[in-house]
Amino acid sequence: MGQQETIYFGRFVSAPTPNELLIRTGAVLVDSKNGKGVITKADWTIDGPDGAVSKFGVEAPVVTSKDNGFFFPGFIDTHIHASQYPNVGIFGKSTLLDWLTTYTFPLESSFGNADSPMYQRDSIEPPPDPRARAKKVYNRLINRTLAHGTTTASYYATIHVEATNLLAEIAFRKGQRAYIGRVCMDRPETCPDYYRDESTEQTIANTKASIEYCRGLDPSGELLAHIITPRFAPSCLPETLTRLGALAKDEDLRVQTHISENLGEVKLVKDLFPEQKSYADVYDQHGLLTPKTILAHAVHLSKEEMRLVKERKAKVSHCPASNSALGSGFCPVRELLDQGIEVGLGTDVSGGYSTSILDAVRNACIVSRHVGFLNGGDSRYNLGVAEALWLGTMGGAKVVGMEGRLGGFEEGMLWDVQEISLGDVDADGQGGDTDVDIFGWETWEERVAKWVWNGDERNVRRVWVDGRMVHERR
Ligand code: GUN
Ligand code: FE
Repeated sequence: MGQQETIYFGRFVSAPTPNELLIRTGAVLVDSKNGKGVITKADWTIDGPDGAVSKFGVEAPVVTSKDNGFFFPGFIDTHIHASQYPNVGIFGKSTLLDWLTTYTFPLESSFGNADSPMYQRDSIEPPPDPRARAKKVYNRLINRTLAHGTTTASYYATIHVEATNLLAEIAFRKGQRAYIGRVCMDRPETCPDYYRDESTEQTIANTKASIEYCRGLDPSGELLAHIITPRFAPSCLPETLTRLGALAKDEDLRVQTHISENLGEVKLVKDLFPEQKSYADVYDQHGLLTPKTILAHAVHLSKEEMRLVKERKAKVSHCPASNSALGSGFCPVRELLDQGIEVGLGTDVSGGYSTSILDAVRNACIVSRHVGFLNGGDSRYNLGVAEALWLGTMGGAKVVGMEGRLGGFEEGMLWDVQEISLGDVDADGQGGDTDVDIFGWETWEERVAKWVWNGDERNVRRVWVDGRMVHERR
């Protein structure tokens, strides 16, 4: 039985709106009595740990952030392929469609198929054990994302029920808030024989099996839930898309998929779905464009598609590192936001090379400047540090349907938080062991900017989800 109430005292930084960082000193009281760590009180006048105890009137332990650091809302990774983690950095000069067949399908198939082409490579010793592989990769990946301060993640696993359920079990045991998707792909023209569901019926039955397993772990669905995951329109039979849309509705579950990432993919969708007006229309016509749908990429949407996405209240996961690595294009984030579409950030491992949302924050800033350049050098397109952090926290909360529960320090919100510490440089020029060197004269806004541009997991001291500590840097 853990502690029932805890006080957190120190500096709190958050990005409640796109335009400003909120930097406050004070304390919050977190109540874990009902199995959830909820902020029940917040006071921004308290100036010391003792003051917090007397002000809140509870004899609770006080956790204090370091003087050179701050509490920050946990990051939300709205799009990450857990199974692709071993391939981070391995993509050569490929672009999306050849990347999938060359690197991605062989790796993913190895999580359940002993005859996977992956196991035919010289470097891997027989006999293959797909279960052992899934266990090794998923344990490591969740440790890494937690170390980077990711408190919530929307995962793609593989087509295999057993390995997908293992990912759910590992995420749940380690305490990360997670949405777990069994990847659905069954269209013979686009999926290899060694890696696809056999039929619509099998796709639905296997998805239901994973839904049941996730419900068994967390009946509330608050910490862990299944997310319906048609890989992308081209990989699913039309009938399968329709059945998955109906299943998501019947079971009241989130949906995740990819949209308009790459121009070759957009053309493929046109060829495979001649009846539909556009890529977004394909999802709409199959009941998959809903307020609970997370669309990854959205790089090449037309204005009309943006309007449809907005109308259906579907969300977008912006994956800037992946879009650069695979040469997919520049996502017009400003335009999406101006249209009123809700946007969060995704690492898209291993289209993206990094498991860090802080890296996605940085890349979102960089890519937005290229978009500005392409629009006549208009800096209106540039995302600032506060805005990119807002996307990685508040934006993500909206995308996963947790607005008001995640992304800040207001009363009623969940304690899904990372504690950041920066490095102090002393008079002799000696500093900490991170790339964030603070000389002492920087404002706190400037310190946060330095963290965004040069920080990494060495700056993440502790991480909590639902009030439970899930990572501590040793
Ligand atoms: N489109 C279909 N599958 C994938 C995938 O695994 N990664 C990315 N980035 N795009 C996809
Ligand atoms: Fe992806």
